Amino acid sequence: MSISARITGIGSCLPERVLKNTDLEALVETSDEWIVSRTGIRERRIVDEGQATSHLAKKALSAALTCAGLGPGDIDLLIVGTSSPDMIFPSTACLVQHDLGMSCPSYDVNAACSGFVYALHAGAAAIESHRATRVAVVGADALTRHIDFTDRTTCVLFGDGAGAVILEAGEEAGVLAVSLGADGAGADLLKIPAGGSAAPVTREVLAARTNYLTMNGNEVFRFAVNVIPRATIEALEASGLTVADLDWLVPHQANQRIIRTVEKRLGLPHDRVFSHVDRVGNTSAGSIPLALDDLYTSGRLAPGDLVALVGFGAGLTWGAAVVRWTLARPTKEA
Ligand code: ACO
Repeated sequence: MSISARITGIGSCLPERVLKNTDLEALVETSDEWIVSRTGIRERRIVDEGQATSHLAKKALSAALTCAGLGPGDIDLLIVGTSSPDMIFPSTACLVQHDLGMSCPSYDVNAACSGFVYALHAGAAAIESHRATRVAVVGADALTRHIDFTDRTTCVLFGDGAGAVILEAGEEAGVLAVSLGADGAGADLLKIPAGGSAAPVTREVLAARTNYLTMNGNEVFRFAVNVIPRATIEALEASGLTVADLDWLVPHQANQRIIRTVEKRLGLPHDRVFSHVDRVGNTSAGSIPLALDDLYTSGRLAPGDLVALVGFGAGLTWGAAVVRWTLARPTKEA
């Protein structure tokens, strides 16, 4: 019998602290006008002292479990997509597993901003191959911990956040196809050079500030506007569908100009492409499940809708998932 993975629960978490563009004006030579016109971002949420990626991931997963009507003990595999783990090891997934009182195998996936789609691919594959029946898939990042708040070219872009979905085995088609890609030739375009085994943190590293994220913004922009339409079409073709069948595109929330360009290239109506980048900025692996949860809780996602989730990021990596939405609209009390 052919088994499919369906999304049966969703949840998300944003830290409480708001960082507005006007707050950044006090830190670097920038302006609200520049940030809004180049990125569409107006504010983002950032973690406070004492908070880390696992705290956001745990809250998002708790909410997804409640949405699915399940408890922590019902999950038989936990996968966390993150590139800002609490520590180099143990994995953030193990920290979340323990905090929530779970006992299943747990691991992290690092594909930067494509992390959620990569984790979804692994979770759906585990279900389709009968190796798991209920999988928790989380995308979570606290990238602002790795941002240089004296570098105006990067510090205006990122925020922190997490989202999670519960996948359950069923005969009804849910995750129809996931198409992934990677091109390590672009590894230098977006990276955190130091802090790993290539360049452990030393006084010299701290002085050169190479323990912070660096990016070639123009090249990443060019990559994104080409790869998102290509990956979306690839995943749709793998499902025997076309762009015309799509009810929603939920792209990685990096920059409103990227989202608008992609929307035009795919010929999608503006009101079918979800964006809330103005309120959250780029939350890396948290971005897609956060956006999906926002779309779901707003009541605009109906059972039967066809949704494409498309990410891109450091690596370079990219990934698109085509999902038939199977969750009922949220009740008012939820
Ligand atoms: N405020 C004011 N001026 C700025 C700022 C700022 N925050 N940042 C850069 N500038 C200046 C530059 O110094 C430059 O000045 P110059 O002309 O005197 O040299 C000018 O603005 C234009 O800079 P550009 O880099 O050409 O600006 P652009 O319009 O390309 O926008 C941006 C830059 C927003 C970074 C854009 O390239 C972008 O969004 N790229 C994609 C980034 C992205 O998606 N990254 C996430 C990947 S996901 C992951 O894995 C983490």
